[in-house]
Amino acid sequence: MVYKRVEEVDFDRASLPHLPTPKNVLFTSPEHFDVAYVINPHMAAHVGSVDTDVARAQWETLRAAYKELGLNTHVLAGAAGYPDMVFCANQTLPFYQNGDSNPGVVLSNMHADQRKGEVAHLESFFSSRRYTVKSVARLAFDFEGMGDAIWHPARKLLWGGYGFRTNIQVYENIASLLDVKVLVLELLDPDFYHLDTCFSVLNERTVMIYPGAFTQEGLDLIHHFFDHVIECPEDESRKLFACNAHCPDQRHVVIQKGCTVTNELLKAAGFVPVEVDTSEYIKAGGSVFCMKQMFW
Ligand code: ARG
Repeated sequence: MVYKRVEEVDFDRASLPHLPTPKNVLFTSPEHFDVAYVINPHMAAHVGSVDTDVARAQWETLRAAYKELGLNTHVLAGAAGYPDMVFCANQTLPFYQNGDSNPGVVLSNMHADQRKGEVAHLESFFSSRRYTVKSVARLAFDFEGMGDAIWHPARKLLWGGYGFRTNIQVYENIASLLDVKVLVLELLDPDFYHLDTCFSVLNERTVMIYPGAFTQEGLDLIHHFFDHVIECPEDESRKLFACNAHCPDQRHVVIQKGCTVTNELLKAAGFVPVEVDTSEYIKAGGSVFCMKQMFW
């Protein structure tokens, strides 16, 4: 149930169970956010350079944008000693199984030692809300949640990035744990170290990618499962995290401000860009998609 190449695919997208769109969105408050170490190339030039007031204001604006779009917003307090915990897409993979009374989350097994302790805070948040909590940690394979594992919109189908933060072997386990088919994509460029930095699902038929981050096998899989593939230019993808944009409702795309070419491509495809400034967070190697977690 893990697929690496189009030739292995033995099912149609339309034959997969329908997945509802999640309506809850979690943020982690930024009082402890900082660039305090270097675990991705974007951080190298920015250690100690975060402007705390600007970061707080940008985070508030981001949260307000999601509220405005009609989502139920939730906030988990950041924890001292975890400057990257604000990137709350990484510590879990929320899931929804038709027929189950409780939705759930799979806990990550963070690659970077500096981030391992963040997971327990997210575990408490979800278990106190009676979510089913499943763990892959005991397998000793790295897994960074929705940084690398991204649901195909509206279908029970998972895309799994690997190569920098997540070990490909974890996807066999997730496939059986959640009874889901997983399409795996190898990541090649260290600037695009998580799948969510180069792959943004917009609706069931449309995805936005930075093609330079993928192998030909990966690109073939993407083109097989999406009818429209929007290709973002390199500078907006690498410097402005254009592909870390997020579309919560199949129409609006929350995106780092200044992605001029990408915005035109989005509009031409019928989407509405919602610009926000996440420049302080880009110093740490993350933008919109990384700073929130959608859950059912
Ligand atoms: N500094 C963080 C790290 O390298 C940034 C994480 C960004 N999150 C994401 N989903 N891409 O782990």
